[in-house]
Amino acid sequence: MSKSRIKYICTNCGHESLKWLGKCPVCDEWNSFSEEVVEMKKSSRSVIKDSYSVQLKDFENYEEVRIKTNINEFDRVLGGGLVKGSIVLIGGDPGIGKSTLVLQAASSINAKVLYITGEESLQQINLRAKRLNVSSDKIFVIAETDLDTILSVIEKSTPEVVIIDSVQTVSKSVFDNAPGTVTQIRECTIALMQTAKLKGFSVMLIGHVTKEGYIAGPKVLEHIVDTVLQFEGEKNYSYRILRSQKNRFGSTNEIGIFEMHDSGLSEVNNPSEIFLHDRGENITGSVVAATVEGTRPVLLEVQALVTPSNYGNPQRVVTGFDYRRLSILLAVLEKRMKLRLSAQNVFVNLSGGLKVDEPAIDLAVCSAVASSFWEKSVRKDVVVVGEVGLSGELRTVANTEKRIKESAKLGFRKILMPKGNYKNIIGKDLIELHPVDTLGAALKILFE
Ligand code: TYD
Ligand code: MG
Repeated sequence: MSKSRIKYICTNCGHESLKWLGKCPVCDEWNSFSEEVVEMKKSSRSVIKDSYSVQLKDFENYEEVRIKTNINEFDRVLGGGLVKGSIVLIGGDPGIGKSTLVLQAASSINAKVLYITGEESLQQINLRAKRLNVSSDKIFVIAETDLDTILSVIEKSTPEVVIIDSVQTVSKSVFDNAPGTVTQIRECTIALMQTAKLKGFSVMLIGHVTKEGYIAGPKVLEHIVDTVLQFEGEKNYSYRILRSQKNRFGSTNEIGIFEMHDSGLSEVNNPSEIFLHDRGENITGSVVAATVEGTRPVLLEVQALVTPSNYGNPQRVVTGFDYRRLSILLAVLEKRMKLRLSAQNVFVNLSGGLKVDEPAIDLAVCSAVASSFWEKSVRKDVVVVGEVGLSGELRTVANTEKRIKESAKLGFRKILMPKGNYKNIIGKDLIELHPVDTLGAALKILFE
């Protein structure tokens, strides 16, 4: 016997309450509680067989099976392809290209794919497929939102990959709640996950993103699935970045870069060339940094603009870089390098809409700010690398060889890097290396 009861669940973090609350006590979100009907089951003690647990060493020779999407950028972010029996959640703003990405993946996957759409009609999917030039006799499409029907179709057609577009449209009829509510999203995902693990097919689940940037529905969904990917991009750029937030089967540092064209997404195999594409000559406030995103080096331009602030508090605006980190670097420049920045507006921007959080970009940010402040440009063929410490010292960074090789490959002549990295370094013959130990020494080389 089961009985149902009303509960209030926070749509942001999944916290449950018996009363409606204006503010969630766990995640501090306002107006996030939705009323949901929850089935209560009578507890029963399960009977456990003797052979219930197994020895870990029994799995020594077990190898995970991956289905490649054959889109390199996608496979790399996944850690080498879709793992059999796993669920990948792909989140992103509306219109960013999630449906396009999965349809393209469906066409290049060498396996039977079942595409379940709850948002678009079959005609719309067909139109998109025509636009993308996708035609595969291995893709089967259904327009369905009822989970039990979906599960029976899966049972009958035995696909190897199932795509659900989107998780917010699927619902289980035993629950009274509307599709997209916390209970529906959670229960449907759990049911899908259990079937996927049992039958060994992989699932790509598309999820919408709320205005705050979370995958809509509870955070608990992110705990249930194996992999969470975010598909993001700036409105004014055609670049799209696939970022891994959680991956049980791979690294979370990897990013995949795509460009959206009229005929779909294309892979960007050499991002540095694109991010440096529009650089001008002798421009103040522009410095090239060598960063490493996951396993891949990416060179990009850091731009800074420093202008006198005429009213009260000076502005600090930053895109693609951590705001607090910028404040620290400005304080270091002010205190150690005697740059009077407290009465200046500072704007910092990374090219191509890329977001970088590794500290190796610090020196490039400091140099770009100094370049704009002093109205002196940095030579176009120079790359800088280094983390800046609070006393103005330059700290060593990882992966120096990758940075050097990529800089040399793109025709740069000179690279400034922390002295600590200079020992045992490979690549000295590729490019002129300048080991520097302080921010002051680096700025001296750049601006003298
Ligand atoms: P879509 O995949 O429908 O986005 P999502 O599923 O994330 O909502 O992509 C929609 C946008 O992509 C739309 O603004 C049009 C654009 N687009 C292209 O520029 N080229 C294409 O080939 C396709 C299919 C879409
Ligand atoms: Mg879509």
